[in-house]
Amino acid sequence: MCGIVGYAGPRRAAPILLDGLKRLEYRGYDSAGIAIGQPDGLASVRRVGKIQVLKDAVPKDMAGAWGIGHTRWATHGGVTEANTHPHCDASGKIAVVHNGIIENYRALREMLVKEGVAFKSETDTEVIPNLVAKYYNGDLEAAVKAALAHLEGTYGIAVIHADEPGRIVGARNGSPLCVGVGDGEMLLGSDVMAFISSTSRVVYLNDGEVVALTPSGFKITDRSDRSVDREADAVTWELGAIEKDGYPCFMEKEIFEQPDSIGRALGGRLDQENATAKLGGLNLDRRYQRAVSRVNVIAAGTSWHASLVGTQLLESVARIPAQAELASEVRYRNPVVESGSLWFAVSQSGETADTLYAMREIQRKGANVLGICNVVGSTIARESDGGVYVHSGPEIAVASTKAFTSQLAAFYLFTLHMARMRDMSRAEGERFLAALAGVPDKVRLALAARDRIQAIAKKYSRCRDFLFLGRGLLYPIALEGALKLKEISYIHAEGYAAGEIKHGPIALVCPEVPSVFLVADDPLREKVISNIKEVKARGGPVIAVGVEGDAELEAIVDDFIPVPKMDCRFYPFTMVVPLQLFAYFCALELGRDVDQPRNLAKSVTVE
Ligand code: F6R
Repeated sequence: MCGIVGYAGPRRAAPILLDGLKRLEYRGYDSAGIAIGQPDGLASVRRVGKIQVLKDAVPKDMAGAWGIGHTRWATHGGVTEANTHPHCDASGKIAVVHNGIIENYRALREMLVKEGVAFKSETDTEVIPNLVAKYYNGDLEAAVKAALAHLEGTYGIAVIHADEPGRIVGARNGSPLCVGVGDGEMLLGSDVMAFISSTSRVVYLNDGEVVALTPSGFKITDRSDRSVDREADAVTWELGAIEKDGYPCFMEKEIFEQPDSIGRALGGRLDQENATAKLGGLNLDRRYQRAVSRVNVIAAGTSWHASLVGTQLLESVARIPAQAELASEVRYRNPVVESGSLWFAVSQSGETADTLYAMREIQRKGANVLGICNVVGSTIARESDGGVYVHSGPEIAVASTKAFTSQLAAFYLFTLHMARMRDMSRAEGERFLAALAGVPDKVRLALAARDRIQAIAKKYSRCRDFLFLGRGLLYPIALEGALKLKEISYIHAEGYAAGEIKHGPIALVCPEVPSVFLVADDPLREKVISNIKEVKARGGPVIAVGVEGDAELEAIVDDFIPVPKMDCRFYPFTMVVPLQLFAYFCALELGRDVDQPRNLAKSVTVE
């Protein structure tokens, strides 16, 4: 969603802000702008569309060594230049960029209108610079704090004033904000991407905190106006990890990175000596873990699909009752939080509002919530009671791929760990561990079907509807395949449990609606083959993702995509790969913007 960048230092701010905005593009946005402090006041440029459009509009030699920038993902008011950030107060001396939603903006706007303020946009944000102006008395930080006292809702903001050169005031409540600590320069960002080309030292703000920064330093104060001392953390992501590396887009790069990213998720966690998994970050004593009687998982989108696989696995392998739920539902349904239940919040970004608020609600009810996150230092990672980092590295494409398989890896590790504390024998632990260690190589082999998948995508990309069908552990993979296709190609697709089609979806089957079946060599295989025959008998084209060498399956379907043979509990890792590639190639065929699909945001920080 929206992104924030700020710079104060000796260099020209414009190129630094534009570089930061470019790196924030992955979050999803529809317009962007910058405001820069110059000797004679603030200069601002805003444009609808891509960062390149803004870049073309910014004078090449634009002066000024401090400023703020923003990518906007429209919530209040249409996608217009007038609604694009930064927003200024009526005098044009104060500029603000804002992520989040000010819930009481209507009342504040009415109050300010009565006081003579003329508004220029339809946004909730524009009340902020005008409130700051109302309280401004020569001290921007004090005026921002006075303005914040009126705001209800969520915000990450950055504010500058024409009369306070080199100064940026930021504040956070529900929308992430962090300081990039440079040498003789300071930066601000909604995430580290905003300033990663300038510094790799970061200080994360907590909710309720305000930061005032100048080129030489920064000062954080909390809700009670007490000053906060916080050391900078090192950003572990390398700049190279956020480049395309010769791939045409990030999504393809990230799909092909999966053998390595899964390897990183497993790295150092396979305990051969004890035939179990080592998860150092759980922060739970062994007796507590042994007594866990239920596992509940909250997540959204692709992370929820990984959680559906994870909870099925926990039940079948570790014999612990487990359930995965949509975070957006959990939060509002007053869930029963039993003692003995362990909760997980699963989130690539660690910033998804639905997941974060659901997690806080569960914690309020007294349960431990562990995080499974990718982004180090993200809000869910910091507020959870422990957890597992999946170490996928930065995932830039909006559609999640490598983070999904790394989340699976985290669940497989946790399952092994819990199972070995219970009834799993050492011999079975060794088998499970060996299969898990072999996953990166199997995924590498699955990726070898790239060209065949591209040809199949070419053949079917003009179809308007698809069914994705799987059973058992592959049912969530069918859901994930359908989601990927929808997200990036805008083709309508539905994921179903294969056994469920006769209860309704089979009515859709016809020559124009292909079905994609996932078929493992497991006890459910014969049942899925029957489901395929039901579809074929009604004239529906069938694409099957199946196990290499399954000639019987290959003979009855229209198109066959092989994955290598493996322990059948591990097929979710390999069978998702052809579905990612299929969605990707369909989207390319249709000329879609694969990395930044319409209407979507990478990090969904509003409800
Ligand atoms: C799908 C996708 C989304 C996210 C969802 C949760 O490709 O990316 O469905 O999975 O918005 O995001 P995180 O995992 O960051 O909480």
